[in-house]
Parts: sequence; structure tokens; C-alpha cells
Amino acid sequence: KVKLKFDAFRHVRTFSTADKPTVVEETTKTYPSTNDQKQCFDEMVECRKKEARSSVVVQVGNPSKSAALVNQVCSRHGNVANLFHYTHKDKELLLLEFDSELSAVNLLASCSHNNNVKVIPAASPFLWLKAMPSESSASVSARFPPVIREENLANDNLEDLLSNAKSISEQMIILEDQTRLSEIGHRLRWITCVQIERMLSGLFPSLQVLPFGSFVNGCGRNGCDLDMAVSLDGNCGSEPLEVKSPLIFQAKAAINNPRLQTQRHIEVFADILQNFTTGCTQVQRILQARVPIVKFYHEFTGVDCDLSMGSLTGVFMSELLYLYDKIDWRFRPLVTAVRHWGAWARLTDMVPGPRITNFTLTLMVVFFMQRRSPAILPTLGEMIKLARPQVDTRQTNDVDCTFLRDPSMFQERGKLNEESLEDLFIEFLRFIESFDFNERSVSIITGTALRKFDSKPLYVQNPLERELNVSRNVNLKELTRVVMEARNALYILETQEDQGPANWGLLALPRAERVRRLNPKTSHYNYVTQIDMKDLFSNDTDDEIDDLVEVKLS
Ligand code: CTP
Ligand code: MG
Repeated sequence: KVKLKFDAFRHVRTFSTADKPTVVEETTKTYPSTNDQKQCFDEMVECRKKEARSSVVVQVGNPSKSAALVNQVCSRHGNVANLFHYTHKDKELLLLEFDSELSAVNLLASCSHNNNVKVIPAASPFLWLKAMPSESSASVSARFPPVIREENLANDNLEDLLSNAKSISEQMIILEDQTRLSEIGHRLRWITCVQIERMLSGLFPSLQVLPFGSFVNGCGRNGCDLDMAVSLDGNCGSEPLEVKSPLIFQAKAAINNPRLQTQRHIEVFADILQNFTTGCTQVQRILQARVPIVKFYHEFTGVDCDLSMGSLTGVFMSELLYLYDKIDWRFRPLVTAVRHWGAWARLTDMVPGPRITNFTLTLMVVFFMQRRSPAILPTLGEMIKLARPQVDTRQTNDVDCTFLRDPSMFQERGKLNEESLEDLFIEFLRFIESFDFNERSVSIITGTALRKFDSKPLYVQNPLERELNVSRNVNLKELTRVVMEARNALYILETQEDQGPANWGLLALPRAERVRRLNPKTSHYNYVTQIDMKDLFSNDTDDEIDDLVEVKLS
């Protein structure tokens, strides 16, 4: 029975990918950097950064008229490999990728600054097309690649697609497929990393900006934030800095307090971003956090960004989740369904507080998949034991982040488990409902429920910084809600006969009543809840709340 279910589901997988109804132009195109199940994390990062260093973003008036002109101007410096179109607020933008980095460098060297004393003449890959009489579109003849358009950020027809699916497994695939961070979303985040790297490397020539978080680990959804870590000396944890020359830079002594030194750096970065970096707005310095960060909003990409410095454990944590995604294809749709369940039941929140986070839920999914029989994912302990000397050795700030970085070792083993996505989602909810959170902790190092190491209601061990509990923010009320909502969801999914045809499976799960509003800041649609708004503005009438929603979002 299980086998049949699994085969039927494979068919569904093919069906849903081939018949994806929206953003067809984008998704039918294959990008080498995202499709290879064997590609290791470092290769993916290098490939994406190279792509970003070969790219520029040009703001234009009318994209259908200007695409040919932009292409003609750019083609003088090399071959244009890809051309994307996106809109942000009222801006029309083209993201153009050359087939070599040098072409982009030459193009940027040929650009002019805005002849206006009121603007800062800083260079960046974000450009503006000023139509010149000699280059009117009438004289354009250069061939250019088809423009790839991004149109589906609002997911208007997601509910229809989910209600027409044939099984909960198929719904989970559709949900993953429809909400996944788009190709343009990826590229805009990578080009932002490269822009910041170029800005800061004037002071620190070896500096590297390394992205981490859901954006790079495969769990990123449309609209997700961009987490970045700075390595000042370009050392990414794999080898001690080699002395390449007998000539060494004269150096200035660092403050004898690493935390204070990091805070100083973050302050300087914040100043550079705020005062000189194109597109970076709403810069906030959060210096007192355990990891000091600077937060900002990028107005040409619509992305919320966090920049930190000091430790690369977040990067290696993302690499670990990236590997789990490569090991078994069910990981990503299951994480997506669990994250959506968390958002729909308002278990997670956009702002920090006592609620469980997406990252904690993701580690719980890993733990759950490690404990299936047969196991779908390996424990971190197994991956550490199998680590290859040198190839897999990583160290950051005295934290050892060495583990096997070859997913192929475990890909076959995971296939011994043939459970469907539906079974896994239901069993995950059962796991949450029945786990002894009072006494036991969640550790993906051993995959076993060890005794808790502190008295917090929920203990989910940080697998790399082992003395830390990633869920220390969760209070008892929120943990109780998580367990109750899991019980509720289980009941609903297991008594499906009673539900109508348009309200079954994932669609039957309780979802805080959602209202679609245009977020004027990002020009993406956000789902907000009436209940949230009433909580916030308890003395206001419904009409006033509608107006205030816009205020809150801006
Ligand atoms: N992280 C961590 N310990 C925490 C919180 C975060 O190590 N207590 C690291 C993880 O690698 C995580 C990353 O920081 O993936 C970014 O955190 P965050 O943005 O909160 O989570 P994401 O996984 O990026 O999820 P989201 O899509 O909600 O941004
Ligand atoms: Mg994030």
C-alpha cells in the first residue's frame, strides 16, 4: 500500500512541476547553480557570487521599449546572457547578466555619475537609464535574450491550486513550489551581497560578505530576509591565513575587547551603508544583541537585510540545512508545510518575542526525520564522524564546524524510507503533540531526546554552539499553544471526510483570517490578520483599522 502511494505521488510530483501555471518563463529555464543535487554549498556560493558580479540592475522608464536599448548599450562590453524584468513600488527594473565578470566591470567603468551636486557620486551595480538622442530605440538593432518576467509574488491562485490537488502530499508540493523564492528573488539578494562586499572592501580588501539563513539553505520563501555575515580577512573558516608575501600590511592595534571591537566595526559599516551606499535605507544599529547587527532595507530590491560580524556559525548552520535538503527531497516541502502551519496558526511571528521561530521549527523537522524508521536524515554526529580531513574542516571563533559535506553518502539510505509527505506531516504533528518537552530536549547531534540542560520550557540545542538553546525565547504559554495547535491540526487532517471539496487537507487547517494588503514599502502583498490589527488598535472601528493597516505596514 505504501509503495503504491509513493508511486502515485511520484506521478503527482512530475505533474505539478510540468504544469506549473504561473511564472512559466522563469521556472522552465534551468539555472546550473540551483539544479544540481550534488553541488556542494561552497560551489553554489561561488557560482551565485560570480553570477552577481557579472550582473547589473538598470532602472528604466518603459521596459518593453527600453530593454533593447539597455541591451545595445551593454552589449558593447560583452554578451548579455540573461535579462530579467521586475517591478518594485513604481520602479521598472531590468536585471542584466553578462556571461563574464569582466564585461560588468567594464560597463560600470564606462557609466557616468548623475551630474547633480545634491547626490553622492558612489558606484554600485544599480544603474539608471537616461535616454540619449543618439541612442533612441529606433536605431537599436542588437539581439537580446528573452526577457524573463517576475509576476507571481501575490500567489493569487494558490488556494485554487491547493483545492484542486489530489492528495495532501500534492498540496505540500504545490505549496513549496508556489511560495519558493523565485530566481529573481535569489539574484537580487546575491547582487546586494556583492554590492555591500564591494563597498566595504575599499577599507578591507580581503573582506567577504557571506549570506546565510533560509535564503541560502533552500527553505527561503518569496519576501524572506537576507542575513549576511562579514569576514574581514576573507577567511571562511577552512584554513589558517597563509602568509603569501614577506611584505605584510602595517596594522593598527585592535581594541583589547573583541565584543567592543565588533560593535565598532558594525557602527562603521552602518555609517557607510547609511551615508554612501545606493539603495540602503532605514539603517538601524543593534549593538547590544548577542550578535551585534546592522539592519537595513534595500529600496531597489525590496529586501530587508541583516549584516553581522564576528562569527560564521550561522553560515555553517545554513550549510548543514542545505545538505539536509540535498540528502532527501521531502525535507523542503515538509519544512515549508510546517512553517506555513506555524504562520497560519500564528505560532510564529515576524517580530522577535516569545513565539517559536521558523529556525527552531526547522531543527525540529530535522530531528523528526532523523528519528523515522528507517531514518531519512543522518544525525550531525554521524556527519562529524565521516568528515574528511581538510576538505570538511571548518573552524570559526573557536567553534568547530567540521562535518561531512558530501550529501551523496546518505542519499541512497534515505530512500529506504518510503513514507509519503502526507504521512510525514501527520507524524510530525503527532511528534509535537506527544513529545515530553517538560523533561526532554531536541538535539540533532544525536537524534535522541536527551534530558534538558536548562529550565526553559523548550530546549532545542544549537548543534554548532552546543551550549546554546535556540528556543530560549519561547515561554510556556507559546509552547502550550504549539502543542495544542498540533493536536488540533491532527484532528482536522485525520477526520477529512467531513470537509467540503474546497476546504480539505492543508486548506482546512485553521488560518487566522487573512487580508491581502499592498505593502507600500516593498510593493509586495502581505497577508495580515484582522485579529492582529484589532489587538493592536483595540479602540478603533473596523474602518479606521483598515486605514491603520496601511500605516502599520509603512
Ligand atoms: N540562527 C542561529 N541561532 C538562532 C537564530 C538563528 O544559529 N538562535 C542562524 C541560523 O543559521 C538561521 C539564521 O541564523 O538560519 C538566520 O536566522 P533567521 O533569519 O531568524 O531564520 P531563517 O532560517 O533565515 O528563517 P526566516 O525565513 O524566518 O528568515
Ligand atoms: Mg532569515
